[in-house]
Amino acid sequence: MAKQILVLPGDGIGPEIMAEAVKVLELVNDKYRLDFELSFDELGGAAYDKYGVPLADETLERARAADAVLLGAVGGPKWDNIDPALRPERGLLKIRSQLGLFGNLRPAILYPQLAEASTLKPEVVAGLDILIVRELTGGIYFGQPRESRVLENGERQAYDTLPYSESEIRRIAKVGFDMARLRNRKLCSVDKANVLASSQLWRAVVEEVAKDYPDVELSHMYVDNAAMQLVRAPKQFDVIVTDNMFGDILSDEASMLTGSIGMLPSASLDANNKGMYEPCHGSAPDIAGQGVANPLATILSVSMMLRYSFAKAEAADAIEKAVSLVLDQGLRTGDIWSAGTTKVGTREMGDAVVAALRNL
Ligand code: NAD
Ligand code: IPM
Ligand code: MN
Repeated sequence: MAKQILVLPGDGIGPEIMAEAVKVLELVNDKYRLDFELSFDELGGAAYDKYGVPLADETLERARAADAVLLGAVGGPKWDNIDPALRPERGLLKIRSQLGLFGNLRPAILYPQLAEASTLKPEVVAGLDILIVRELTGGIYFGQPRESRVLENGERQAYDTLPYSESEIRRIAKVGFDMARLRNRKLCSVDKANVLASSQLWRAVVEEVAKDYPDVELSHMYVDNAAMQLVRAPKQFDVIVTDNMFGDILSDEASMLTGSIGMLPSASLDANNKGMYEPCHGSAPDIAGQGVANPLATILSVSMMLRYSFAKAEAADAIEKAVSLVLDQGLRTGDIWSAGTTKVGTREMGDAVVAALRNL
């Protein structure tokens, strides 16, 4: 039976980059006889405009029924001042939470051709290949209570709550250790255990899980130091496992090691490797509609989908190879451009990947 893939382009540059990723997906579907069926729906601001909510119940049901979801990006100034409960980002958080996608894999890999595009010295980033495993359905993003209120003295106050339960920590720690096992067997757990109770539990539970992985070298690091070490000597890391908010921040930081946030794909997985695949970047309102966004993070997210949800390693490898060949040709979107390379737009970049794939 055909595998169902639900495509949610989203807002801003979302539809632009998704158009290119879909071309790539359709080609591999054909070339490797994957028997995928694509369908399309809205998430975020586009869903708010169409359905009045950032994630419609029908869309959530279609996502549940699908074998995988491919997402562009959501959000934008148009929806920044609506009821916070209806903001585009809420739709994204809801779909992650409702599908149980607690394990977010964010690989930061430097294509050697892009050493000059990184803002760091080439020798600091050459050969970089790290994986950030971000907890995605817990912590301060979802903790209750959260509230904005007016105190008796008339001052406004707002607060969020950062809860983590043992089982939530255990399952994400296992993802971290399992990933480390598939790589260089080094796992760094990043927390703020010198201050936060939730981090103290995090560290204790990670230590317990480590007993089942004696072959993986575990270290712990405070998040402030980790942020510094990532730009000082990023290659000391293999796999990083961390909570929802720290992972959000560190993965954007890590993206610049690879040249641009436009290069960072992600997989958000449930306990059975059912997943949603999306670039780590947002809807980039500053460049939306100009046809200049980098589609490679989304194209590489398609590759992650083939690998993790469908075990189609050959097709996944082919996409990565095609991206590499296009970079060899010197083609660059503005975010990864450097002197001596050729600046192209979103569509030209997508077309070049498709052409390279076709010739593989
Ligand atoms: P952003 O990631 O959208 O943009 C940050 C900067 O990176 C901008 O200068 C942008 O032009 C650039 N950039 C991002 N993606 C790029 C690409 N593919 N090619 C070239 N340049 C790219 O972050 P932001 O500006 O903080 O947020 C904008 C909106 O996106 C907000 O509404 C935010 O909530 C939302 N957002 C959504 C997601 C998601 O859907 N997963 C992720 C992050 C932010
Ligand atoms: C991301 C984004 C989201 C997050 C926002 C848009 C809710 O920044 O996917 O990294 O913080 O998780
Ligand atoms: Mn983010």
